[in-house]
Amino acid sequence: MPNTKSKKANGGQTKSRASNGSGKAKTSNSKSSATTDQRDTKLAKFFEDSLKDIYWAEKHLTKALPEMQEAATTQELKDAIEKHTQQTEEHVSRLEQVFEILGKKAQAKKCDGMEGLVKEGESVVEETDEGSMTRDAGIIVSAQKVEHYEIAAYGSLVQLATTMGEDEIAEILNETLQEEKETDELLTEIAETNINWEAELEGEGSD
Ligand SMILES: [Fe+2]
Repeated sequence: MPNTKSKKANGGQTKSRASNGSGKAKTSNSKSSATTDQRDTKLAKFFEDSLKDIYWAEKHLTKALPEMQEAATTQELKDAIEKHTQQTEEHVSRLEQVFEILGKKAQAKKCDGMEGLVKEGESVVEETDEGSMTRDAGIIVSAQKVEHYEIAAYGSLVQLATTMGEDEIAEILNETLQEEKETDELLTEIAETNINWEAELEGEGSD
């Protein structure tokens, strides 16, 4: 693991050895990648940890989303969730690609944030009636919370990658970021055009 860097007036990188592995420069051919020194900074380590975190989150979602899909009432919402499950699988493999570019093994580190959001979604399902529009409205709220978490995570990762000179990685992560934003907009649209209104008409909840 890390090194015994004499702490230095930071900002730039403290030159330490040609670091990890073989000093192999880059795996990409066209876009620019960071130098091996840039990959040996505290920021790079933080970046890698954040990747592990979102990697766990995405993998967790590939299991949670189908359950949400099944619980949903309307076909429209089921279809949207199904589409997003497929995208999520793609997000997982993009992250694996990023680890590969970095010359690291793809590793997941439990993401408490995503675990909590998914749990929240599960309790929405428990607390709403099967076949109701209120349930769909609730699922959409939960799904949008998930999307906003992911948008924040990927937005930051894209910025960090850019700062570290990892242009190729920034580009890959940005593709995912855009898809997360599109999903969020789609969910808003579904909620606004239909589901929320119908949920409103379901009247008083007794229980
Ligand atoms: Fe995702």
